[in-house]
Amino acid sequence: MPRLLRERGLGGRDAALATELAYGTLRGLGTYDAIIAMCGDREPDPAVLDALRLGAHQLLKMRVPPHAAVGTTVDLVRLRIGTGASRFANAVLRKIASRSMEEWIPIVAPDEESDPAGHLAIAYSHPRWIVSAFRDALGGDPKETAELLAADNARPTVTLVARPGRSSLEELEGSGAEPGRYSPYAAYLPEGDPGRILAVAETRAAVQDEASQLVTLALTRVPLEGTDELWLDMCAGPGGKAGLLDAIATHGDLAGLDGRDPDAFPGGARLLAADAQYHRARLVWQTTRRAAVITADGTEPPWRPGVFDRVMLDAPCTGLGALRRRPEARWRRDPASVAELGALQRRLLAAALDAVRPGGVVAYVTCSPHLAETQVVVADALKRRGDAEQLDARAYLPEVEGLGEGPHAQFWPHRHGTDAMFIALLRRRVTPS
Ligand SMILES: C[S@@+](CC[C@H](N)C(=O)[O-])C[C@H]1O[C@@H](n2cnc3c(N)ncnc32)[C@H](O)[C@@H]1O
Repeated sequence: MPRLLRERGLGGRDAALATELAYGTLRGLGTYDAIIAMCGDREPDPAVLDALRLGAHQLLKMRVPPHAAVGTTVDLVRLRIGTGASRFANAVLRKIASRSMEEWIPIVAPDEESDPAGHLAIAYSHPRWIVSAFRDALGGDPKETAELLAADNARPTVTLVARPGRSSLEELEGSGAEPGRYSPYAAYLPEGDPGRILAVAETRAAVQDEASQLVTLALTRVPLEGTDELWLDMCAGPGGKAGLLDAIATHGDLAGLDGRDPDAFPGGARLLAADAQYHRARLVWQTTRRAAVITADGTEPPWRPGVFDRVMLDAPCTGLGALRRRPEARWRRDPASVAELGALQRRLLAAALDAVRPGGVVAYVTCSPHLAETQVVVADALKRRGDAEQLDARAYLPEVEGLGEGPHAQFWPHRHGTDAMFIALLRRRVTPS
């Protein structure tokens, strides 16, 4: 989208309108398709369907006057597809315009009582399997599931991180950002292009979700006996967590050292950041300062076992926790990807536990709340090996409430305004049980 906007020379309000049209339509198309199907006497061709989706979004979600929404969409179909199709589009759009979104939902969605997941899927435009996965992760509560789905459909705020020792909240506030809610290094940017902020351009600060900052901090906050000099980020690309880890490893957890946390890390460690893909590793290299960055497959590691004091495993996952940031992602994934990724997640977690020294700690992190990618993977690892114990991750996130029953911690967009990130902290036992 940013590239298209540049190519077409759109800026300011035009760019904002084009972005809302594209992203809003992508988010809502589960609902719009159900309404369009009810308003037409035949299945539209793919190109006509796309135009109808854009029209439906303007009619039902944006404050575009109906005659303008119908007129521009019909013109678009006439110009791009033909007169016959434009007549069909006109008829469908007029029917859509006859009701509001609130009036359409009970007509097109399955009954709430007899099919709650089906109802939520259409009402909040998510694939049904994702609704079920979210409901399971939220303990079956349909009301809270609806709140989560609604949060996925809202535009997220841009969150910045002031990497300690490299930038500061004061500097980011000077560029128009506001202090974050939880992370001592977070600032929200209400408007504007973050790339134009000097600290971001110089990689002293970066765009990073607040939960992503907090899970990184949690790993650095666990007290260790013995050495604390060598850290590993096993799946580091594109480098959000590696950037913060590198700054803390080098300069220390400055906010914690400021008297907030007696166990705050004082600095003086070194980070090795790895990613299986060269171009992703390159991005990590561009955003870090002192870290050693390599291209390496974590399941066939080039490092010796048992040498790292702390290991971050931010595992490849479905990304179901960041749907609000990627409007099209919910339609691209399918349940088969959960199973496929599950096998890789298990192998990577075993490799992370091999990489950490006895007494050291591993953070298993996903940007997905799907139980099969989170709790089940961790439970399997604990069952399989006697040399790991789980810590209560919530104890290292004292500033945040509502992280679940533990010992893992689960962030939620509707509770915390962050991505739905999961963290489990595992310590490698000194003497295996
Ligand atoms: C969720 S992303 C990591 C995000 C990153 N930690 C951040 O905060 O910016 C997962 C990464 O794992 C990498 N990956 C996938 N399989 C891997 C493997 N076998 N070994 C190492 N990295 C792998 C992917 O290329 C991807 O960049």
